[in-house]
Amino acid sequence: MKHKSILILDFGSQYNQLIARRIREMGVYAELLPYDIPLEEILAHSPRGIILSGGPSSINEENACILSQNLFKQGIPVLGICYGMQLIAHVFKGEVSRGRQAEYGPVDFIVDDPQSPLLKGLPEKSNVWMSHFDEVNHVPGNFNVIGHTAVCSAALANEHDKIYAVQFHPEVAHTTYGGEILQNFIFAICHCEKNWKIGDFSQTAIEQIRTKVGNKKVVLGLSGGVDSSVAAVLIHRAIGEKLSCIFVDTGLLRKDEAQKVMDTYGKHFHMDIHMIDASKRFLSALAGISDPETKRKIIGKEFVEIFNEEAVKIKGVEFLAQGTIYPDVIESISVKGPSSTIKSHHNVGGLPEKMSLQLIEPLRDLFKDEVRKLGMSLGIPKEMVYRHPFPGPGLAVRILGEITQEKLNILQQADQIFIYELQAHELYDQLGQAFVVLLPVKSVGVMGDERTYAYTAVLRSVDTSDFMTARWSYLPYEFLEKVSSRILNEVEGINRLTYDISPKPPATIEWE
Ligand code: XMP
Repeated sequence: MKHKSILILDFGSQYNQLIARRIREMGVYAELLPYDIPLEEILAHSPRGIILSGGPSSINEENACILSQNLFKQGIPVLGICYGMQLIAHVFKGEVSRGRQAEYGPVDFIVDDPQSPLLKGLPEKSNVWMSHFDEVNHVPGNFNVIGHTAVCSAALANEHDKIYAVQFHPEVAHTTYGGEILQNFIFAICHCEKNWKIGDFSQTAIEQIRTKVGNKKVVLGLSGGVDSSVAAVLIHRAIGEKLSCIFVDTGLLRKDEAQKVMDTYGKHFHMDIHMIDASKRFLSALAGISDPETKRKIIGKEFVEIFNEEAVKIKGVEFLAQGTIYPDVIESISVKGPSSTIKSHHNVGGLPEKMSLQLIEPLRDLFKDEVRKLGMSLGIPKEMVYRHPFPGPGLAVRILGEITQEKLNILQQADQIFIYELQAHELYDQLGQAFVVLLPVKSVGVMGDERTYAYTAVLRSVDTSDFMTARWSYLPYEFLEKVSSRILNEVEGINRLTYDISPKPPATIEWE
C-alpha cells in the first residue's frame, strides 16, 4: 500500500514527525526514513518528492550526516529544511559556517523571488520559525536566493533541477505560511495527488491482515487505550473469532474501566476477550513499595507473566498483534538526533518470547490522529476514541507512596468526579490530559464539629498536543469550585484539594 508519496529523510530534528503529519493532513502519504538508507531503497518507494529534515548537528562536524550527490541526479524534486538546506549547500559546493548571530524563534522572512513556485502566494514579508547557528554564507553556483531574513539567506532554489531549501521550519505552526510552502512543494512542484484517506487505508489493511493470517489465530493484549482498541477492532473486522484478546484488570485502572472495556469490545463488538482479574495479585506484589521505578518494574513483570500464562492457554496461536503506531516506530529508528531521546518508552508489557509468535502491527504507519479517525470509521464510540492517554502502570503512578486498596478506592472516586464534570462542562475534549493524583500526605481539616485527618489530592490538567511539553489548563474558577466541592464532600478520605500549576518542563505531566 505504498502510494506515490513524499519521503522525508530523517536527520534527527525533533520536528521531523510534524513534517510527515502536515503532509498527510494535506491528503498525501509521507513517510520518514533514516537519512542513510541506500539510494536503491529510496528509489524503490518511487517517491514524488524528497524532503531533507532538520537535525541537531553541524555540517562542518567531523561525523556530520552527509548525502551523496547521486540523490539529486534522479529527477526527483528535493526540499531541504534547516540542516537539510545546509546539507544541500554543502553538497553543491557552497559554504556553510557559524553565523554572526544565531536565530531562534519567530523571525521576519522577506520573499525575494515571488515567481518561485515554492513561495507562490506568500506576502512579501511574513513570520517564520527559526532554530539555527550555522548558515549558508556562500550560495552554490546553480542556486538563487529566493528569500532572506535580516541575518541570512533563508530560502534557495535551483529551479532547473527542482532543488529547494529553506533555513526555517515550514512544518511548525509558528511559520505563518508554512502550510502554503509545503503545499507548493508537494502539489505544484512534485505533482502529488491527494490520495491518502483513512477509509482506503482500513480496506487495504483488512485485506492484508486476512492474507497474512490465513486460518491461523491471533492474540492481542487489549488495554482499553486507543491504540490497542483500534488495532483489535480492525483485526476483528478482518478475521472475526480468530482473534482472541487478553485484557488484564490490574486493579489499577480507572473506576469501572474493566466493565466499560468488556461492554464495548465484548458485548458490543462481540470480540473474544479473556479478562483476567489480577487486582489482588498486583496489590500484593506492590505491597510496601513506594519507589516509582520499582513499582513500574513490578507491574511490568507481573503483566508479562499474566499475559503469557493466559496466551499459552489459547491453542493454535501463531500471531501476536500490537497497537504500535508510527511515532513508536520512528522513535525506534530515529538517527543520532535528539528526537529519539526526548521521550522515553513507557509501555508496560513485552513480547511473550517463548511463544515465538509473528507480529502483526496494523497501525504502524499511522499517527495518533489518524488512529483516532480510523477508530471512528470502525464505529468505536467517540468517548473511547477521544479519551485522554492513560499510563500503562495506571493509577500506581498517580498514588504517590505505597499503594493500598483504600487509596485506590479514594483516587478512583475522585478521578471519576473530575472527569465526569469535565465532560459535563464540555471541557474534556479541549484538554490534553486531566486526572487526579493522591499524595501520601495527611492534614488536619474540619467537618461539622469534628476534626478530620485525611489525604491531600491534586487536580492535574494540561494543554498539550505532543505531551513533550505542556501548559497547565486555565480551567474556570467556577468549574474548579464545583469539582472541589464535590470531591471534598463525596469522597471520604480526602479533605484537601489543590490544583497543579506547573508546566512541563520543568515538571512532568504525571507525578509518579
Ligand atoms: P510525563 O509524566 O513523562 O508523561 O510528562 C508524558 C505522557 O506519557 C504518559 N505516560 C505513560 N504512557 N505508559 C504509557 O503508555 C507509561 O508507563 C506512561 N507513563 C507516562 C503520561 O500519562 C503522559 O501522557
